[in-house]
Amino acid sequence: GQQRLKISVIGTGYLGATHAACMAELGFDVLGIDVDQAKVDSLSSGRLPFFEPGLEEVLARNLAAGRLRFTTDYAEVAEFADVHFICVGTPQRADSNAADLSYLDAAVDALAPLLSRPTVVIGKSTVPVGTAARLAARLAGTAPAGADVELAWSPEFLREGYGVEDTLRPNRIVIGTAPGSRRAEAVMREVCAEQIAAGIPFLTTDLETAELVKVSANAFLATKISFINAMAEVCEVAGADVIKLAEALSHDDRIGGKFLGPGLGFGGGCLPKDIRAFMARADELGVEPALSFLREVDAINQRRRARTIDIARGLIGGSFSGRTVGVLGAAFKPNSDDIRDSPALDVAATISSLGARVTVYDPEALENARRAHPGLGYATSMLEAVRDAEVVLLLTEWAEFRDADPDELAKVVAQPRIVDGRNALDPEQWRERGWTYRALGRP
Ligand code: UDX
Repeated sequence: GQQRLKISVIGTGYLGATHAACMAELGFDVLGIDVDQAKVDSLSSGRLPFFEPGLEEVLARNLAAGRLRFTTDYAEVAEFADVHFICVGTPQRADSNAADLSYLDAAVDALAPLLSRPTVVIGKSTVPVGTAARLAARLAGTAPAGADVELAWSPEFLREGYGVEDTLRPNRIVIGTAPGSRRAEAVMREVCAEQIAAGIPFLTTDLETAELVKVSANAFLATKISFINAMAEVCEVAGADVIKLAEALSHDDRIGGKFLGPGLGFGGGCLPKDIRAFMARADELGVEPALSFLREVDAINQRRRARTIDIARGLIGGSFSGRTVGVLGAAFKPNSDDIRDSPALDVAATISSLGARVTVYDPEALENARRAHPGLGYATSMLEAVRDAEVVLLLTEWAEFRDADPDELAKVVAQPRIVDGRNALDPEQWRERGWTYRALGRP
């Protein structure tokens, strides 16, 4: 049969490790590369350096099948692959809201001079519009003379916690190519043949549109969450119930119910930094007014954290000083150990800084939380975290917390008071069992 494409994946964080394992799962020979030797060692031995449901099995299966390897050597990668997927991080810069593109530049600079065979480089990282065109020029400028090298951009839409599913069965595939590109689209169609055959929409665009699809999708999602959280603010003063409101809105199929969950708001490594980087880029492009609404989206999101703290403070008589507080949740969302811009940890740390003794429990993110916030108290179970608490805050909606038994918790807390920061519990059930129950956006 036909020789299958050989694939490299550059950068093996959440995105890259998932992408590499899933490309191998589709039957391709895959070589992942990272500059971090520890990460490469861990992945090579079948251990994920982070928590992602289902991924470790895919990793192990494909390592065992010999379709998947990891290295730190760019020369090996350049020699091996027909197509390189760039999956390095583009975090928020320390000195501004813009994206830090240094990992991306470094990856292209390391790879380009070593390319000696026809190669397609496909960026997947989330980038400010205009980056791909700049990198295409950089690649062409550094690749050996006469090398047949093309750069394209195919944004990744995976959600943490659903990384395998979202990579194997994305709801769309977008590929942006440069003017005059000859092979990138065909190569991408070959990589995605199984998904295209399964009816997954495959959209081809220019580089700039592909870059923008990603950031505008995230901007839309962030806006939808902040919209319902803004309604929650109004509900709080009007005596209305945002949960009922959201449910009623969701039956209009033009609106839909997804990402309409009111609560503590969005965090994580993507939505907050992506909307800020998008605004920064709009500034640079001179279209600042087009995205100024995202400033409000961000502000609404931040206000939910302050509001949660206010509700908790109100429940214990107006001051955190010397009080005992139990916090359920540290990850930015359930089924993840990711604490980047976690609303839960932000709230926990603020309450601690206001003088409370705070004890945090999370099923997966404890180690990461401890490293980032060594000053907080940590417990290895839910009951331990809420022991002697004068108020409990539920800040990440893990199933374990949703299913918590109010009677069991009531036995160990000092006072049965709970702030449900994620609207994850049934207020009636908790109130019937003697709890003072408060939530965001509900009477
Ligand atoms: C997001 C996008 O969903 C994904 O397509 C993109 O590729 C990366 O960014 P992720 O950061 O993994 O994915 O998390 P997501 O599930 O989108 O949740 C983001 C945040 O929004 C979480 O903090 C979550 O708690 C919050 N959220 C989500 C709400 O507050 N309400 C909702 O209704 C939905």
